[in-house]
Amino acid sequence: MSAVQAGPEVDLSLLVRQVRWEAEGVVSVLLEDAGGADLPQWAPGAHIDLHLPGGATRQYSLCGDPCDRKVWRVGVLREDAGRGGSAAVHERVRPGTVLGARGPRNAFALAGTGPFRFVAGGIGITPILAMVRECEAQGVDWSLLYGGRSRGSMAFLGELAAYGGKVTLHPQDEVGLMPLGEQFGAPQPGTTVHACGPAAMLDALHGAMESWVEALRVERFVAVEATTEQLHSERAFDVDAVRSGVTVRVPVGTSIVRALEGVGIFPGTSCEEGICGTCETGVVSGEVDHRDSLLSEAERAAGETMMICVSRCTGPRLGLDL
Ligand code: FES
Repeated sequence: MSAVQAGPEVDLSLLVRQVRWEAEGVVSVLLEDAGGADLPQWAPGAHIDLHLPGGATRQYSLCGDPCDRKVWRVGVLREDAGRGGSAAVHERVRPGTVLGARGPRNAFALAGTGPFRFVAGGIGITPILAMVRECEAQGVDWSLLYGGRSRGSMAFLGELAAYGGKVTLHPQDEVGLMPLGEQFGAPQPGTTVHACGPAAMLDALHGAMESWVEALRVERFVAVEATTEQLHSERAFDVDAVRSGVTVRVPVGTSIVRALEGVGIFPGTSCEEGICGTCETGVVSGEVDHRDSLLSEAERAAGETMMICVSRCTGPRLGLDL
């Protein structure tokens, strides 16, 4: 469900219009086209790659109004234990800074026609903000359960207050962990659940929804790690790049992307962790060992696409639409 159709992703030069303090450790950054042009269209759930001062590239969900073609908004949590991207935003991005960007890309679009239940943990509220705005505009049944460490750490509370009782806040220091089992343990026919937040929250929700997990859509910030079984069973395989007419061997410990680069095929990549969707590639033949954090159970079972930066092959050979 989306009223806004997104176009192909593009490279952009973005001017920082404003940096706003939203909550403890969270700023929002308002961005406009550096040349004053309209920004590309996007739909809720979309994110962009931002090329940050210092050389890092990070993915951020767009959390403003998709109808506003002049301004994009992203929310950034400072993670001191992170790899430096969020610190670069907090310390070096100021009004007037120009940042390279690529996108928008959407691997977390609203699925279904409603009712919608949303679950957000911490900075995971950012893609959900745009989703609830769209649901409200379309007049569909929705509600949001939003948890955080404490009320002071939860961004955009003022904005969410406008939705009244559709939003339930769950600051952990006041009321403990979110009651995911209680609220999502029993199947709710026709309902889709979209969730974004820390891995522990998403894993708990996945566990609670075991009997109707096909209704769950998640976006992760941190890649799911390969299981011990996957690591131990890893073996070399051949990839046929069908359109290019090239076959390449993918050794143990090498990704399909790296192997393809070795023979002069350069698929687009960004996160290289299976969380952004840039490298999603059509599968022509073969059995995929999915290791990404994006595809739903149903999409994995269909086996039509895969993330070639992390996923592999369970058999000896894979045919890809490349
Ligand atoms: Fe991000 Fe593969 S490059 S999912």
